[in-house]
Amino acid sequence: MRTYLVTGGAGFIGSNYIHYMFRKYCDEIRIINVDALTYAGNLENLKDVEKRPNYTFIRADICDKEAIARVFEENDIDRVVHFAAESHVDRSIRTPEIFVQTNVLGTAVMLNCAKAAWELPDGSFRENKKFLHVSTDEVYGSLPEDDNAFFYETTPYDPHSPYSASKAASDMLVKAYMDTYRFPANITNCSNNYGPYQFPEKFIPLMIHNALEGKKLPVYGDGKNVRDWLYVEDHAKAIDMVQEQGKLFETYNIGGHNEKQNIEILHIILETLRDMLPDDDPRKAHVNEGLISYVEDRKGHDRRYAIAPDKIRTQIGWEPETMFRDGIRKTIQWFFENEEWMKNATSGDYQKYYREMYEK
Ligand code: NAD
Ligand code: DAU
Repeated sequence: MRTYLVTGGAGFIGSNYIHYMFRKYCDEIRIINVDALTYAGNLENLKDVEKRPNYTFIRADICDKEAIARVFEENDIDRVVHFAAESHVDRSIRTPEIFVQTNVLGTAVMLNCAKAAWELPDGSFRENKKFLHVSTDEVYGSLPEDDNAFFYETTPYDPHSPYSASKAASDMLVKAYMDTYRFPANITNCSNNYGPYQFPEKFIPLMIHNALEGKKLPVYGDGKNVRDWLYVEDHAKAIDMVQEQGKLFETYNIGGHNEKQNIEILHIILETLRDMLPDDDPRKAHVNEGLISYVEDRKGHDRRYAIAPDKIRTQIGWEPETMFRDGIRKTIQWFFENEEWMKNATSGDYQKYYREMYEK
């Protein structure tokens, strides 16, 4: 049975990936989820899988060399899927050091421990061992808005935020391991994800939550920054396909050609919420454009992201399956059915973060 070590599996994409993998492979694989449970990690995301005999959760920090080495010593890991990171751009602008610590140092620890476990005395690696580093399109910087330009795998790195700089550094470390040691790895650079379990500090869940609560909808700057949105399950599928069919040492961009301005996304969310809320739901009265509030722009706000997914489509056969309007309906439906999850996610520390971020 193949054993996966998933880092950051209690976060948004990691937990969706774990669900996807168990749906696809059932009892044929074993998953060990290593997560430090920061503010972004939530074991509620994994309630449905926690009792599976082929699932193990280990609370550990990826910067903790001994703890990570122990996971490799005690388990014959075949695949690493490395999600664990500090992932929110706004937080990186306020506290960059933790991004360097987790994203750069943590990735170095993961690489080193995998290398130590997988390397043979002659410097080659045990067969069929693979490390997949999950990264972002933000490493490529920002595209002009009036241009038909896209991010390709060959686009030079030009990160702007402390978050994207730390992810770029982590990508470079993976590249260095591949180039120096022929370490068996791939890198994926994906566009903006949305879907179930996304923490409500990110644009889409924050807007859904605030609209339902009748709170202001804070749009940065002129609202015309463009992001390229992908339903999270399509990302999970792409990661699995890259590990199964991708060529080692290659980078694959993942995105669904779904570029939209933030303000367009917000209008779709409001429209969909109004359509989905029953007529007798009192929230229906306040879910409208009157809640939109233009606020101070994010510092260094990248204008436009747009992935060219040509390589993963032609070489691996991956295509996104979820149209944006369907994905947003599924996401809103999930939030309707998981009000308790949202209540827990937005209590405690979230309130403090929200006040400091939006009520200055
Ligand atoms: P997230 O913030 O929701 O989850 C991150 C997870 O990592 C959490 O469970 C957290 O507890 C864990 N973690 C953080 N620091 C840790 C540490 N030091 N040791 C162990 N665990 C730690 O993030 P996400 O949105 O699910 O993103 C996952 C990965 O995908 C990240 O590497 C991110 O850069 C990348 N990515 C995200 C997106 C997106 O749109 N969200 C798009 C492309 C790539
Ligand atoms: O592109 C991939 C990246 O997408 C990932 O690597 C990151 O981990 C992920 O967080 C995401 O980064 P963004 O900064 O693009 O996502 P965020 O949801 O924070 O913001 C999306 C857009 O919405 C961005 O242009 C900023 C804007 N925004 C965001 C928030 C939180 C607002 O206008 N208001 C807000 O309150």
